[in-house]
Amino acid sequence: MRPSLLLLLLSLACLANTQHQALIDYLERRLLAIEDRISLWQEQTARYASDLRELKVQMVSQLEALDKEKEGLRIHLDSVGTRVDRVERELDYLETQTGAQPCVDVDDKLIEQQVSLVQEKHKNKYYQLSDCTDMISSIKAMKILKRVGGPKGVWTKDTGLNSGKIYIFNSTDQDTVYEFSSVQDFTRSTGLTLSKKLKLPMAFKGTGQVVYKNFAYYVSETEDKIVKFDLTSALMTDSAILPFQDFIPVYTLNSETLIDLAVDEEGLWAIYATRQADQYISLAKMDVKSLDIEQMWDTNCPRENAEAGFVICGTLYVVYNTQTPGRSRVQCVFDVNGLVSSDEAPLVYFPKRYGAHASLKYNPQEALLYAWDDGYQILYKLELKKKLEI
Ligand SMILES: *[C@@H]1O[C@H](CO)[C@@H](O)[C@H](O)[C@H]1NC(C)=O
Repeated sequence: MRPSLLLLLLSLACLANTQHQALIDYLERRLLAIEDRISLWQEQTARYASDLRELKVQMVSQLEALDKEKEGLRIHLDSVGTRVDRVERELDYLETQTGAQPCVDVDDKLIEQQVSLVQEKHKNKYYQLSDCTDMISSIKAMKILKRVGGPKGVWTKDTGLNSGKIYIFNSTDQDTVYEFSSVQDFTRSTGLTLSKKLKLPMAFKGTGQVVYKNFAYYVSETEDKIVKFDLTSALMTDSAILPFQDFIPVYTLNSETLIDLAVDEEGLWAIYATRQADQYISLAKMDVKSLDIEQMWDTNCPRENAEAGFVICGTLYVVYNTQTPGRSRVQCVFDVNGLVSSDEAPLVYFPKRYGAHASLKYNPQEALLYAWDDGYQILYKLELKKKLEI
């Protein structure tokens, strides 16, 4: 090899070596910078993590405090609830204790009043009965008489006589009616012990039952018959298959009751609904002797949220409530004589109490409503006025 070539090769190698060294230095500097950054990130992350941990600890302790407060509130509410319950029970008790005597007095007064009322009616019976013009104006008073039986049922006096007898139809599907000889006996009785038990030929269904002039009228459990039962002889006197069909429960809030029966100054009425007009309630006047339908009306009163109904002087009053029992009110009125319409009739609210009526039976002799509300037997005294005075 020639010396010049060797020199060239040597100097080339040296050059390459210097370049290589520069590259390595450069890379080393970069790596150091990256390492710095990484350690900075690690530091920051560690700080964030510890911040987060601290926050979490704070949150947990606050949540615990909130939980404790919630628990405290719940306990407080529970105790308030039981106190309210107790006060209600005490009120009920006081009502039955102290109420018994005055209630009998009140009732005697009512009987006196009713006798004079009836005498007055007898005096001008002819045009009064054919020209019955009373309508409800308000609910003047309420009296809780007793609590006996299940959540649903019917209690009523004989609506056509002054016999004073009280009848109890407990529940919505029984075949027994309990007869008390007076309101006094009823309030005095422990449960139903002072009553006479009458066995019906067929069980009743719902809360449609009425008692009129010593007969019980009711819809049988087979749901297609109205039964007339003689309470004096305890025998079935008649039964009728109704001329209309396709019944549906008349009130959506008391679905056991297919047909509701009512008595007013003019006799016996059936309040019902059929599939053909399933949004509305229909009304029929019945002959008490033959159980024939004399006349029928389709009313503009909706079934929806209706809980009960009654008839006064040929005017149907439908009582409405809410699914969760609230304040009952008469919100639809249908007058077969066309004298009163819902727009003109006053909106009548029931005094707030237990909230859901299983039945409301009007007694034209006394202007009283016999109500069954969650096992409580309640009397409402009605204030009436003349229809044309609106
Ligand atoms: C009344 O009917 C209910 C069922 O609704 C029943 O639990 C209760 O024992 C009955 N009461 C009497 C006195 O028959």
